[in-house]
Amino acid sequence: MRLEKIRLLNDQAQNAQAKLEAHPETRELPFETPVDFSRFWLPESLTHLAHLPVYAEFTREEKLTYNQTFALMVIEQSILFEDQLSGFMKKVFQASPKIREKYPDLFQEGVDHFLREEEEHTALFWRLAHASDASYQGQKKFRYYQPRLLDKLATLLVLSFPKWGIVWSWLSLYGEEKFLLNYKEIKRASHDPATAIDPLHDAVHYWHMLDEARHVQMDEIFIEECWDPAPKWLKRINLKILEKIYQSFVVRSNSAWSLWKIACKKHPSLLRHSAKVKEQLRSLGSTASYQQIVSARSSIPRTSALFDARPEFAHFGKILPGYQRRHAHLVP
Ligand SMILES: [Fe+2]
Ligand SMILES: [Fe+2]
Repeated sequence: MRLEKIRLLNDQAQNAQAKLEAHPETRELPFETPVDFSRFWLPESLTHLAHLPVYAEFTREEKLTYNQTFALMVIEQSILFEDQLSGFMKKVFQASPKIREKYPDLFQEGVDHFLREEEEHTALFWRLAHASDASYQGQKKFRYYQPRLLDKLATLLVLSFPKWGIVWSWLSLYGEEKFLLNYKEIKRASHDPATAIDPLHDAVHYWHMLDEARHVQMDEIFIEECWDPAPKWLKRINLKILEKIYQSFVVRSNSAWSLWKIACKKHPSLLRHSAKVKEQLRSLGSTASYQQIVSARSSIPRTSALFDARPEFAHFGKILPGYQRRHAHLVP
């Protein structure tokens, strides 16, 4: 286990926490300013429909409604992801004193920082959701993220087997690296006033990204600890699950249609595009610009580099259309 690396990450997490406790004003988020409904809440490049021809036919108002609905879905998805991930990690690393003892103290300390920070993120995301949409009425209830029943069941199945569900380590790395990408796109969009997102949404994603930059490095350790030593047969089963999850959640993004229906309820004029949206969403999986954003090396460099270094991922260019394999020795 790379204990020196973990020690460094723990120090960084501890320093960040100490700094914040001593000077809470450094993370002052503009919650007192109302969220700006005349701006996007996430860059258009991250949304599904902005990559399809039908989007060019939307009015500015329609684009805003769709974008803001999408941004709320991403917030809810992030909450669910981090919540489920944390629960699962507790089972994997901390379920009993015996399991805890299997890992060095430094590692357990790293896991503790990770879990503490995820809890803070979840609280922050709920606060952002409530500030953005009064219809939550202050409740922590999912209103925008509605995965298909089959996808929900598949996720629950994986999460029920902490000993066998080693796929979690890859899902964690991908999900957290995607948070870094989200902020990279926010930064890019901020250079033009017409595309710059609402300042509160920007600030929350910025603070989230700071912790996630560390989490991504812990994820690599989780892969080395949980995935790499696993027997071949278990990897084979988990690879199949990973392929299905990537295809449902990343490549085809199966929740895109239910999100569209929610946006239509908010802004009924969107309904006039429904037939085209339905038809064009079928080609999202083969839309190069979208696949580029969700799975190209420039978007997920660490995930790509870790795939490169493992023979079991040799065929992954067929699973994630944006991923092009490189020989591991060429990877910096
Ligand atoms: Fe997080
Ligand atoms: Fe995280």
